[in-house]
Amino acid sequence: MLKIKLRTGSGAYPVYLGRGILDKLGVLALSRLPACPLLVVSDGNVAPLYGANCLESLRRAGFKAELAVLEGGEKDKSFATALTLYTSALEAGLDRHTAIVALGGGVVGDLAGFVAATYLRGIPYIQVPTTLLAMVDSSIGGKVAVNHPLGKNLIGAFYQPSLVAGDTATLETLPPREFNAGLAELVKYGVIWEQKLFIHLESLLSRSSGAPLAAVLLRARGAWLPWLIARAVAIKGEIVCRDEREKDLRRILNFGHTFGHALEAATEYGYYLHGEAVACGMAMAARLAVLLKLLSPGEAQRIGRVLGRLQVPPPPRGLSREKVAAALYYDKKKEGEELIFILPVALGRVIACKGPPFPLVEQVLAEYLEGALL
Ligand SMILES: NC(=O)c1ccc[n+]([C@@H]2O[C@H](COP(=O)([O-])OP(=O)(O)OC[C@H]3O[C@@H](n4cnc5c(N)ncnc54)[C@H](O)[C@@H]3O)[C@@H](O)[C@H]2O)c1
Repeated sequence: MLKIKLRTGSGAYPVYLGRGILDKLGVLALSRLPACPLLVVSDGNVAPLYGANCLESLRRAGFKAELAVLEGGEKDKSFATALTLYTSALEAGLDRHTAIVALGGGVVGDLAGFVAATYLRGIPYIQVPTTLLAMVDSSIGGKVAVNHPLGKNLIGAFYQPSLVAGDTATLETLPPREFNAGLAELVKYGVIWEQKLFIHLESLLSRSSGAPLAAVLLRARGAWLPWLIARAVAIKGEIVCRDEREKDLRRILNFGHTFGHALEAATEYGYYLHGEAVACGMAMAARLAVLLKLLSPGEAQRIGRVLGRLQVPPPPRGLSREKVAAALYYDKKKEGEELIFILPVALGRVIACKGPPFPLVEQVLAEYLEGALL
């Protein structure tokens, strides 16, 4: 079991990673919280697989734990579902000396964290991520949110968990497409922060001609995957500890997200998984960086080659450049009317680029939609 300690301005908390951590969850939780009543929030896919194990571990350690099961899927990140959880918590008589446990992927983590941040003006919560994306990204850093009909994650808070406990054994039941989507975030850390991590992924791929990255990693599951997850957590941890509230540095985590969110929005959130859209967005950002002469074509090709092994679906038929361009303008990462893109300038280094010439952005969109980038 690996322990990484994160120190943010609003408090420090440990992240535990390893196989079989669910069995130890109760003991780990007891090191951070008194043996209080807990509401475990999970979804309809994860609860049948890991709910009983989670409750048993918590109860063994003396917690009074109850399970609330959501349907699952992005639509759960809504005010309506949050209201249902507030009601369950109130009806169960949960007072301020209780806590929430989020057992699931990023949807459960974001929603349960949001409910914890707001229920009775805030109660503690624990993140127990079960997707690769949640382990390496969404469970770290305390961004919690629900969606608004006008956009994703628009209503939320920065609210750090008391503890994160990621059991890597849970990844074995994750659907392959979800696993691939999480890998996109691993590639992201290599491009924005740590060249060594990127080169590692490249060299793993070079030893297997044309195989998808997921297959390469799963074949070597015992060896590389835990190391990569731990590096990702340490990198995200370092970034969010230096800039908890996204004033500056934390923005680099949005690499691939300006284009990626536009693709998700232009397809009504029904075609891409979030990580897939981010993978496309990273290829597009690398291309934009080349057009702006910020990145060498050779480095952009290296980024494209790794992203090309993530099995991202092709651009949907009939999606027009105009529709994606219009969706770009609803992006949260605008300053005034200017769009902000996080662009690579080298492997391991990115910059924020404000308001690049729009014809170049349109050229990138056209190249992506023609299938020329991935
Ligand atoms: N808070 C942040 O900093 C942050 C960062 C990135 C993404 N996000 C959010 O995360 C969400 C996406 O998270 P996600 O990709 O984890 O999606 P998700 O939570 O919807 O999980 C993906 C699917 O996998 C299933 N699943 C989860 N774990 C499983 C397991 N071990 N075995 C079998 N099935 C399993 C889920 O039921 C779901 O159907 C989005 O809402 C996004 O906005 C938040």
